Amino acid sequence: MSGKVKVLISEERVMDKVAELGRQITLDYIGKTVHLICILKGSVMFMSDLSKKIDLPVTMDFMAVSSYGDDTKSSGVVKIIKDLDENITGKDVLIVEDIVDSGRTLSYLKQILLDRKPNSLKICALLDKPDRRVDSVDIAYIGFTIPDNFVIGYGLDYQQKYRNLPFVGEMTEID
Ligand code: IMP
Ligand code: MG
Repeated sequence: MSGKVKVLISEERVMDKVAELGRQITLDYIGKTVHLICILKGSVMFMSDLSKKIDLPVTMDFMAVSSYGDDTKSSGVVKIIKDLDENITGKDVLIVEDIVDSGRTLSYLKQILLDRKPNSLKICALLDKPDRRVDSVDIAYIGFTIPDNFVIGYGLDYQQKYRNLPFVGEMTEID
């Protein structure tokens, strides 16, 4: 499989935005420890860069859920593939997500995590595609709002590839 890729959000713009989000999170969580939860695999790049821009004690955990097969459309099925290693009760939890599309993944996840009684629970998403929302979800921190096109890069994949691109791009040709 090879395809042509067009840059949608440059590496520089991504990094500037990540720094801005980190500054805002630092201000909002002052005096607290931020417990970051990375939603694998798409949020790996975003969470690692973001964590370096938060000037507070940070802890991390990882969770894998799946709402997609190897397709560009949501199946509507959300499955926990890997649960958290640590208990989040009493913690200030910030879910770090690559992109919010239908909102199904996050509204489901949020409910599951709220049942575990964190002190607080907020969401930080690099990308938001509001046109595709099916389940409403409150996102405290949003990097970029983008139109309804399938995007790749900076953690986001198409059939598990392109995650290592340093920018967010669009596929202009798929073959
Ligand atoms: P949602 O449950 O429909 O909001 O889906 C969210 C998940 O689907 C994201 O965390 C991504 O992993 C994946 N996803 C949604 N849109 C895209 C896209 O444009 N490119 C790559 N992955 C996407
Ligand atoms: Mg994801």
